[in-house]
Amino acid sequence: MNRSVAVVAGATGVTGRYLTGHLASTGTWDVVALSRRVPDIGGSFRHVSVDLSDVQDCRTKLADLRDVTHVFYCAFVQDADAERHRQRNTAMLVNLVETLDAASPALRHVHLVEGTKWYGSHLGPFTTPAKEHHPRHAGDNFYFDQQDWLEARQWKSGWTWTAVRPHAICGLSLGSPMNLALLLAVYGSLCKTTGEAFCHPGAPENWTTLYQCTDSGLLARAIEWMATRDACANQAFNVTNGDVFRWSNVWPRMADFFGVPMAKPSPRKLAEFLPALASRWDELVKAHGLQPYRLDQLAGYAFGDFVFSARWDIISDVGKARRYGFGEAVDSEEMLLRQFAAFREAKIIP
Ligand SMILES: NC(=O)c1ccc[n+]([C@@H]2O[C@H](COP(=O)([O-])OP(=O)(O)OC[C@H]3O[C@@H](n4cnc5c(N)ncnc54)[C@H](OP(=O)(O)O)[C@@H]3O)[C@@H](O)[C@H]2O)c1
Repeated sequence: MNRSVAVVAGATGVTGRYLTGHLASTGTWDVVALSRRVPDIGGSFRHVSVDLSDVQDCRTKLADLRDVTHVFYCAFVQDADAERHRQRNTAMLVNLVETLDAASPALRHVHLVEGTKWYGSHLGPFTTPAKEHHPRHAGDNFYFDQQDWLEARQWKSGWTWTAVRPHAICGLSLGSPMNLALLLAVYGSLCKTTGEAFCHPGAPENWTTLYQCTDSGLLARAIEWMATRDACANQAFNVTNGDVFRWSNVWPRMADFFGVPMAKPSPRKLAEFLPALASRWDELVKAHGLQPYRLDQLAGYAFGDFVFSARWDIISDVGKARRYGFGEAVDSEEMLLRQFAAFREAKIIP
């Protein structure tokens, strides 16, 4: 039987980095990883440095991928202009899928990473727990553009699609605008060294609302699962750790991990507080022999302000994925502490 050949787009990101590593470790996939930077992980895969926003670059560099069976689209670009944000993210998906559809007659499946923002979680209170069949929120969303294009394109193709809707993906990655665990790890470490209070920095209501996140490893396994099950074809699935938590419960354990006193919640803009400590981070790197990363490579400051500003519950129903056969679950509190410990072990934080 021919081996499956996976193309993972966005291989240096907090989603794609883990998916690349996971697929490469199974022994059942040949993996081609795409990104502009070289992924900083080991394993058996081929990397192609390609600019997905440049259709000519895609055609030139990917034309020889004639036996690709699965495309996993985990690429993402942040743009402050909402219209450009939609256009750029959709164009990258289109460039990649059109190029590989033309190059590989073996293409069987295209997987797309979406998120809870599909339900309008970023706009205000929304129906929770959010289910996949709930109506779309009013207004624009680049996930709508991407999925609509994919669905329409699939009609003309021999392949199927799936989409995953995770929330607050946590893992190790450099330069990701959204990486909650790494942001918290950097925040706690800086508070420890400067003596600043390690306070919950957001809206008072956020302290007690229900929240959720998704472990990058669990997400990688869920994506492989749904992309290889006929029953999942042409559908979307929520995937989170499967639990919910309140920052008021988790914060004392995080303070304990960083060795800082538990502080009272106190509004603070991380996008101002953290960049002002960039040189203190450089000192920490030298003093503790940490990996030579700048603060802005590790922490997406604005994402923290966004996460902690929500005054409403953020809960996805993961029952559909469970009913279709993906039953894995992770304790989010334990996951955060485990990831902080892994960052320490990897000399990312002191
Ligand atoms: N992170 C979260 O908490 C979260 C939560 C829910 C949903 N999501 C969704 O998950 C999806 C993936 O996001 P993510 O957070 O995993 O992304 P990420 O960590 O920011 O990674 C983005 C990836 O895209 C690649 N990329 C960007 N522009 C590119 C270009 N022009 N050419 C080639 N590669 C390019 C980057 O590689 P190079 O820079 O090396 O090129 C990187 O590998 C997005 O749709 C996002 O909305 C994320």
